Amino acid sequence: MKITVVGTGYVGLVSGACFADVGIEVVCVDIDQKKIDKLKNGIMPIYEPGLEEIVVRNYESGRLSFSTNLGEAIQDSEVAFIAVGTPPGEDGSADLKYVLAVADEIGKTMSDYIVVATKSTVPVTTGCKVKEAIQNALDKRKSDLPFAVASNPEFLKEGAAVEDFLKPDRIVIGVEEERAEEIMRRLYKPFQLSGDRIIYMDIPSAEMTKYTANAMLATKISFMNDIANLCELVGADANMVRAGIGSDPRIGNKFIYPGVGYGGSCFPKDVKAIIRTAKTYGYDLRVLQSVEAVNEDQKHTLVKKVKKHFGDDLSGMTFAMWGLSFKPNTDDMREAPAIVMINELRAAGAKVKAYDPIAMEEAKEVYVGDKVTYCDDAYDACVDADALLLVTEWSEFRMPSWSALGKLLTNKVVFDGRNIYDRKYLKEMGFEHYGIGI
Ligand code: UGA
Repeated sequence: MKITVVGTGYVGLVSGACFADVGIEVVCVDIDQKKIDKLKNGIMPIYEPGLEEIVVRNYESGRLSFSTNLGEAIQDSEVAFIAVGTPPGEDGSADLKYVLAVADEIGKTMSDYIVVATKSTVPVTTGCKVKEAIQNALDKRKSDLPFAVASNPEFLKEGAAVEDFLKPDRIVIGVEEERAEEIMRRLYKPFQLSGDRIIYMDIPSAEMTKYTANAMLATKISFMNDIANLCELVGADANMVRAGIGSDPRIGNKFIYPGVGYGGSCFPKDVKAIIRTAKTYGYDLRVLQSVEAVNEDQKHTLVKKVKKHFGDDLSGMTFAMWGLSFKPNTDDMREAPAIVMINELRAAGAKVKAYDPIAMEEAKEVYVGDKVTYCDDAYDACVDADALLLVTEWSEFRMPSWSALGKLLTNKVVFDGRNIYDRKYLKEMGFEHYGIGI
C-alpha cells in the first residue's frame, strides 16, 4: 500500500514515519524545500523523542521518502493525508488556506481514485470544503475521476508522539462511503486495534470529536486550577484533593494536575476555534469561555506569588527559571506560560536567568530573544538568583541537590509551578516552598 502525507509538521512527519514503520510506502510532502532537504539528511525540524531514529530507519529502507512534488507523490497513492498547519486567524477561527490549497492541488493532479483524509485539526464542515475544492479542480479539468474525503483526526501528544501514534488508544475515522472505509480499515490493520477502538462515523462527527477531546482535557485542567486556587484560600491541599477525586474512575487521575496553565499549539488554539465555531452558529459555549479565561489568569499565578513574597517592585532582583517549553520532552514554545512570566518579571524590574534542557534555542530564536540570560545548566541559573521558579517539570529538575542550591541562591525560596517538590522536605532543608493550590 502506498500513501502520501502532506505537511511535515508534528502530525504529518510523525504519522508518515510511523505508517512507514509498519510497512506502508509513504511519501511525505512539504512545500518547504529546505525542510525536505534536511529531512533527507536526517535532520529533524522538531525535537521529539524517538522521531529521528524512526525517520532515518525508514528513509534508509526506502519505505519513507520526502518530496516537494505533491502531484507526483499522489500517483498510485491510495490515501493522501492532509496534515498542514491551520494557524488561528485574528478572530480565533482556524485558517484553512493551506488545507484547501492542498485539496486543490490534489484535484488538479490526481489520476485515479484516492481517499483524501484530513489529519490536521480542522473545524467542522472542513470535510465538505475539501470535497468542494477537489471537485472544482476536477471540473476545471473536465474530469469525472472518483474520490472520497475522510476525517481522521490525530490524538498524539507532543513529547510522546511516536509512542502515541504506534500505540493509539483509539482511531477515529469519519467517512461517507464504503470503498473509502475499506481502504482506511486496511491502512490501520497493522496497528492491531480491536474493533471497538477503531470508531467509524460521519465526517462532521469525526471533526467535532477532535475539538471536543481537546476542549474536555483543557476543561479538566482549568477546572482543577480554579479549584486549586480555592484550596489555597480555604487551607486545603490541592494535591490531596486531586488524589481524592482522581481515584473515582468516572473522574480519572489524568489531566487534573494544577499548574501554571495549559499551553502548546493545540489546547489554546482549539478552545478558541470551537468557541468561534459555536458563535458562528449563534451559540455561546459558556463553559469553554470560562476555561479560557481561567487559563489566561493561571499563567500569572506564580509571579503573583513572587510579588506577594518580595513585593510588587522587583527591581534589582534576579530569578532563576527552570523550564521554558510548555511541557517537558519538547522544544515547543508556542503559548508557553514561561513567556508570560518572563514578561511580567521584567515589567516589575527583575532579571531572569533561564535554563531548559531542550527549548533554549527555540526560545531565543523566536519567542523570548535576549529578554533572559540563558544558562549552561540548572545550577548555573541559580547562581546569585533571589529565588527559583520551576515552570516546566522536566525529569532532571525533580530531584536537585537542595544543599547545593541553598549555597547558590541568595534566598532559599522556591516557587513550584507544577507541585513537583515535597514541601515538608524542603522545609527541613531550610527552604520556603510555594506551590499551586497548596
Ligand atoms: C494535546 C492532546 O493531549 C493530544 O491528545 C492532542 O492530539 C494534541 O493536543 C493535538 O491536538 O494535537 P499536547 O498539546 O501535545 O497534546 O500536550 P498535552 O500533554 O495535552 O498538554 C497540554 C498542556 O496541558 C501542557 O501545557 C501541560 O503542562 C498542561 N497540563 C496537562 C496541565 O497543566 N495539567 C495536567 O494535568 C495535564
